[in-house]
Amino acid sequence: MKVHGRHYRTIWLKVGDARTVQLIDQRALPHEFIVEEVRTVAEAARAIAEMHVRGAGLIGATAGYGMYLAAIESTDPDWLRRACETLKATRPTAVNLAWAVDRQLAAILSAADKVAAARATAAQIADEDADFCRRLGEHGLPLIAAISVRKAGAPVNILTHCNAGWLAFVDHGSATAPIYAAHDAGLAVHVWVDETRPRNQGSKLTAWELAQHGVPHTLIVDNAGGYLMQRGEVDLVLVGTDRTTRTGDVANKIGTYLKALAAHDNAVPFYVALPSSSFDWQMRDGLREIPIEDRGAAEVKLIDGWRDGARAEVLIAPTDSPAANPGFDITPSRLVTALITERGVCAASEAAITALFPEHAVQSR
Ligand code: MRU
Repeated sequence: MKVHGRHYRTIWLKVGDARTVQLIDQRALPHEFIVEEVRTVAEAARAIAEMHVRGAGLIGATAGYGMYLAAIESTDPDWLRRACETLKATRPTAVNLAWAVDRQLAAILSAADKVAAARATAAQIADEDADFCRRLGEHGLPLIAAISVRKAGAPVNILTHCNAGWLAFVDHGSATAPIYAAHDAGLAVHVWVDETRPRNQGSKLTAWELAQHGVPHTLIVDNAGGYLMQRGEVDLVLVGTDRTTRTGDVANKIGTYLKALAAHDNAVPFYVALPSSSFDWQMRDGLREIPIEDRGAAEVKLIDGWRDGARAEVLIAPTDSPAANPGFDITPSRLVTALITERGVCAASEAAITALFPEHAVQSR
């Protein structure tokens, strides 16, 4: 994706120094564009845990590069297994993390040249993420195009939650990929961007991304979506996911479930876009099995923004009031119109999902 007209991915190896990983520090957006350098697995783990990088695909890609940095530090198998556990402990909900780390560990341990294998696998994970997201765009585009035809070319209004954009992946994004594809194909689209409390990934990241790409959008508070749907001002909801069970239950940023309920009540289609790395092939019951991250009270009680050219934080609640902060919720498969994957669009059911991914037809546990 382009930033000020120049193409960027969210993570890459530094040109001329293959022992350094560079990534966009998302904490500073949209006010500053900062590229951070990461040289150790501990630094990679911190970048994930403290959300310099976030979003399912990018968490996976960063963990992949983190294992490469671990291999540069030492190829001792015990050290690599510990690095694997350190990375996995950073954030619990996005399944791409464990998927990437396990893939790396298997590749490294079975290779003669462990550092070379780690580097190649990290690059494969990142390239695959970008390619799969590009294909989500291809498969999602006809859904938007059909609505555009029905509306005789009037703008298609798409509501999205959080940031499942290119910043959440290596490139293109999941929920945004069909939007960018439709916009680039000349279709009129307009995006309702949920601000997404408490961290405001919608207002800080999604709005910024869409603006960089020239996609018309309007920022709304999280509670506005239901009202807009009642008024017929939302043609479809399109979100990403941090983990989706083999039965089609969807974990996504807190608040997604309420959007799905409102969409259901108003007969608005509710789509979830995901690369296959976000499926948890072991799980069948999202509500009971998917671990939900608790990010603590501070994110709820303090809000940060930009004042006089610097980051500023203010308290927005009584100092002593406790606050709860579940980071994700589960949208049951019955509320999902369809899933958009790199292999095509399918119903949110085990039969339809495993028909697209027959290699997972048999649950491995
Ligand atoms: O806590 P985050 O910012 O890492 O949460 C991830 C998200 O942005 C969303 O849940 C997103 O919609 C799915 S990840 C592509």
